[in-house]
Amino acid sequence: MLALRLPAVAADGDAKKGESVFNDNCGVCHNADSTDAKVGPGLKGLFKKAKLVNDKPVSEENVRALINEGTSAMPPMGDGMKADEKDNLIAYLKSL
Ligand code: HEC
Repeated sequence: MLALRLPAVAADGDAKKGESVFNDNCGVCHNADSTDAKVGPGLKGLFKKAKLVNDKPVSEENVRALINEGTSAMPPMGDGMKADEKDNLIAYLKSL
């Protein structure tokens, strides 16, 4: 029998494709392979941290919101990206 309710799974992006989204949009300001700051903090191990710079817990939802809304120091980056590109980007960030 088919499950009637699908679990609320995160959209499963493709981390490999997300890497090029990152390189095109984020790499200018963020390292992916270290925590050393460039313009913004290095993002290696991002999803292993407890909190984001805006003090929210690290979760897919909060990282998406930060990308879309930016912060006082980071410009909003969501506008130029398609939904599937964002899914791929998140999958990539999770792999760092
Ligand atoms: C123009 C430079 C710039 C670009 C482009 C940029 N960021 Fe940022 N980012 C920053 C800065 C600066 C901060 C620190 C924000 C603060 O302290 O308020 C930041 C913070 C972050 C954080 C929080 C890190 C933490 O440790 O809490 C994440 C996640 C992030 N950026 C992801 C991205 C992603 C993904 C992209 C590409 C879609 C991107 N950023 C593009 C400058 C940038």
